[in-house]
Amino acid sequence: MPHIHLQERSAAHIPSQVGRSRFDFIATNVNHVQEQLIATEVAQKKFFILLKDAPKRLIKSDKITRPSPTYLIHSALLDYVTLTNAKVLSSNVHTAEKSIHLQEDHALKPVAFFTENFPTDRELHIEIGFGSGRHLIHQALQHPNALFIGIEIHRPSIEQVLKQISIQHIDNILLVDYDARLFMELVPSNIVSNIYVHFPVPWDKKPHRRVISKAFIEEAIRVLSCNGQLELRTDSERYYHYAYETFMSLRQLSLEIHKNRSIAVSSKYEDRWRLMEKNIYDLILINTEESPPHQNNVCFDFPENLLNTVRLHELNGNTITFEGGFIHFERLYAIEGGGMLFRLSLGSFERPEHLYLIFKEKETIYFPQEPIATRTNYKVHQQLIKELHG
Ligand SMILES: C[S@@+](CC[C@H](N)C(=O)[O-])C[C@H]1O[C@@H](n2cnc3c(N)ncnc32)[C@H](O)[C@@H]1O
Repeated sequence: MPHIHLQERSAAHIPSQVGRSRFDFIATNVNHVQEQLIATEVAQKKFFILLKDAPKRLIKSDKITRPSPTYLIHSALLDYVTLTNAKVLSSNVHTAEKSIHLQEDHALKPVAFFTENFPTDRELHIEIGFGSGRHLIHQALQHPNALFIGIEIHRPSIEQVLKQISIQHIDNILLVDYDARLFMELVPSNIVSNIYVHFPVPWDKKPHRRVISKAFIEEAIRVLSCNGQLELRTDSERYYHYAYETFMSLRQLSLEIHKNRSIAVSSKYEDRWRLMEKNIYDLILINTEESPPHQNNVCFDFPENLLNTVRLHELNGNTITFEGGFIHFERLYAIEGGGMLFRLSLGSFERPEHLYLIFKEKETIYFPQEPIATRTNYKVHQQLIKELHG
């Protein structure tokens, strides 16, 4: 995680523009005044820098809002040092030029890109949990006229594949750093020709974290075009049985099953399992139905005048649970010059979102962006409005 230890710094004049960074406001934790957040924007990406004055004076990126690629954080931290004339004690931040390939990040899209304008102009394939990206890149090179969306939650894998995309000048892959189970709710109906789930983590001890579930398969069937395929490849016999039963419990499906099938490219995991002479199972679901269009017109606006300082202090530190979800009011901050800021976790227990809520005199907005337009998040948003009213 990029960070800089500072010996001393002078007070920052904010709002300010320094280098590539725009610093908009400072907010101070109402329970720990030595912790502050600075709202920052670099290359149109909005995020917070976290400032701690104790036990050491430190600046680093805030975990919830940290942007990708990481060179944006490096730029912002260096610009903050310039802004405050700070003396640097130690740092792991390097100049942006060192990670030049990451600047070519056209392939990495924020999830909001898909909610605003889902690409539908080409044959579409989705790979879930692409890991080292061998299969994703191989497929994209084999099918230059199709578009491949790769979904991953592991940042180092994403950065590794971004590097390959840049080196090999691949222009038909988009990557998204998001939970694939939620992402599926955002995909329009009947537009995907193939979904690949290769060697998903079996999560024997945490089944709720598995990608394959009834809800996931329902969404997969909805987004697949007629004759479109969902391809599950696994080395875990137990996961294979679990997936088979889940597939069969749904409705009449067309299913192909293979054991130790060879495919054109083998992933890092596959190589490992083959060396250990483990069996590899394929379950291929073929969709035979046309699905109705997807209704996803949820709105995350707030009513005016929610800046009620007394109510916000009452909520600070509390967790509210209700059917279908929860809201944890984690930390309250006071914004210099007026307004408040809440750090929240909310959503379903299995797939919570972590974000901030900014209260200005008249308007209330999510930061750095609205929750993703899933059904559960919309329910939680309604509940949040009720709680803020008190
Ligand atoms: C065992 S690895 C397999 C990687 C690759 N498919 C291969 O065959 O080498 C599973 C990958 O799935 C990713 N993953 C797990 N749960 C996920 C989810 N809900 N959404 C997206 N990716 C996920 C993990 O980060 C990990 O990289």
